[in-house]
Amino acid sequence: MAHKFRSLISNKIIQALSGFPIGGRGLKPALLIPCVQLDPKTGPEPEFQVSLRALQRQGLISTSGLSDQKDLIRYGSALVQKFDTDPTIPGVHLVQDNKDVRLNFKVNYSQLASEVVRITTHKPASFWQCSALVTLLPHQNVVVEYSSPNIAKPFHVGHLRSTIIGNFIANLHVALGHNVTRINYLGDWGTQFGILKYGYDARNMTEKDLEDDAIKKLYEVYVWANQKAELDPSVSSKAREIFNEMEQGNISELKAWEVFRNVSIKDLKRMYARLNVNFDEFHGESMYNAQKCQEVLNLMEEKGLLEALDDGRKVYEVNPKRRVTVVKSDGSSIYLSRDIAGAIDRQEKYKFTKMYYVVDNSQTDHFVALFSILRKLGFEWADSMMHVKFGRIQGMSTRKGTAIFLQDILDEAQEIMLQKQQETHTTRDDVRLSGAETADRVATSCILIADLKQRRQRDYVFSWDKALQSRGDTGVKLQYVHCRLASLEKNCGIEFNSQANTSFLREESALSLIQDIARFDEILVNSYQELEPCILVNYLFKLCGNINMSLKHMQVKGAPLEVAEARLSLFMAARYTLAAGMNILGVKPLDQM
Ligand code: ARG
Repeated sequence: MAHKFRSLISNKIIQALSGFPIGGRGLKPALLIPCVQLDPKTGPEPEFQVSLRALQRQGLISTSGLSDQKDLIRYGSALVQKFDTDPTIPGVHLVQDNKDVRLNFKVNYSQLASEVVRITTHKPASFWQCSALVTLLPHQNVVVEYSSPNIAKPFHVGHLRSTIIGNFIANLHVALGHNVTRINYLGDWGTQFGILKYGYDARNMTEKDLEDDAIKKLYEVYVWANQKAELDPSVSSKAREIFNEMEQGNISELKAWEVFRNVSIKDLKRMYARLNVNFDEFHGESMYNAQKCQEVLNLMEEKGLLEALDDGRKVYEVNPKRRVTVVKSDGSSIYLSRDIAGAIDRQEKYKFTKMYYVVDNSQTDHFVALFSILRKLGFEWADSMMHVKFGRIQGMSTRKGTAIFLQDILDEAQEIMLQKQQETHTTRDDVRLSGAETADRVATSCILIADLKQRRQRDYVFSWDKALQSRGDTGVKLQYVHCRLASLEKNCGIEFNSQANTSFLREESALSLIQDIARFDEILVNSYQELEPCILVNYLFKLCGNINMSLKHMQVKGAPLEVAEARLSLFMAARYTLAAGMNILGVKPLDQM
């Protein structure tokens, strides 16, 4: 049973208009703007409006012979006359102003309201999946690679953005019915591991020394050894030797490496849990060591893609102006060659029809080279890979100094939240008991939302104040509105009635809310097409605005039973929609705070 929601209306209109010059494939749901008309007899009535000028701009109707306003009116009237009305769209009429002519399609209000409530409350966790828009999407086998920090190096804000945005992209694809594999591709290989191992040995360290705060301790050792290596060339050559041994599979060197990797993953997992972020697999660059890369290099040699330079390096020409190193002079693998081997391996393992690398803007050249090589190697699937880029965050530091570790950022946010919570006198006692945990949830929600509300590719300046404030468009707002609805359901004194008569919902705010909910499927699809979380975030803020407005104008407690039931059912539909949106963003909704 497809054709639901906003797409129910747009599809009907599009179908009814097909055969007309603007109908059929050309007219997208996005061109239909929902609006409210006030009818003095019946109150507000929803309509969907399409502007003929907008259709002209989109090239869906011609401009020649229709440039004059009068011609456009004549054209519009002809469409109105030919339009077949039906129970959901009982009428269409022309609206004109000095510059434009619009077709306004009336929508049967009660029918829309009851459909929306019925669909949303029937299967709250996946109600949008029966939408025509969603069912039309081709099913994909999707690999999303995100977070991908480097062991023994700081987890910087670029990794944080990759984590947050990548998790959203994976969630969204799952929500839209794709088959998704989430991969964290750790930077767990390379000469820095020789340096790290050198330092670990020189300081006589053991696994016990890394027991708590492993990430920071490893970093400390790394920095220390690195300084030594800079001063003393024999240290760097020793480190290179160690790494070469590792590449050759020397077990004793690999033992320590395994410890570094395991303790780091353990630490990271705790952080990811706080952020509500998940992975199916922890992969790493180490999976593509010199031996693995050799197969790839042979392939490249065979196809004549490599050029040997005098200094022993082998390079690939991305374009006449740019060559990239694929093999170092000592023959060891590098970042790029590992990625080539990795992509081939993932295609074999997952047969992906789409693979996203969620990595900051600064690595654009790297991915251009990677995709170019894979194409030249003859892999058609190379066209289904995409570098999902994002801009930089400025100003995300803690009060103690520049934050370089994720844990510091999360702790700082939690601390500020906790302080705020204690300052608010209205906080109920039972809430305060779970204070630290709630504060952490609200704080991480704030960090997630502050990031996801930005256009992905833009750089932005982070401010603790702005991100954590309770007024304004923050994670607090989403959580707060969700809590209000959850508490209403608990305390309103009546039960949800799935047969509630929604024709009692006559208020203008109810109408806006119904139209908002009816657009959820379209918002998800837009967000998916552009891979832009901010589309969903902005929608949720608008939804919250309409929920607040409705809560103000539509009391449940004390209203006549039939009215109260209708209102409760709408509020439940609203909460399910809000919760679904939050979950896709990676924000776990709270029931009380
Ligand atoms: N670990 C890398 C870094 O921190 C990011 C890895 C991105 N993914 C990839 N397949 N190259 O810079």
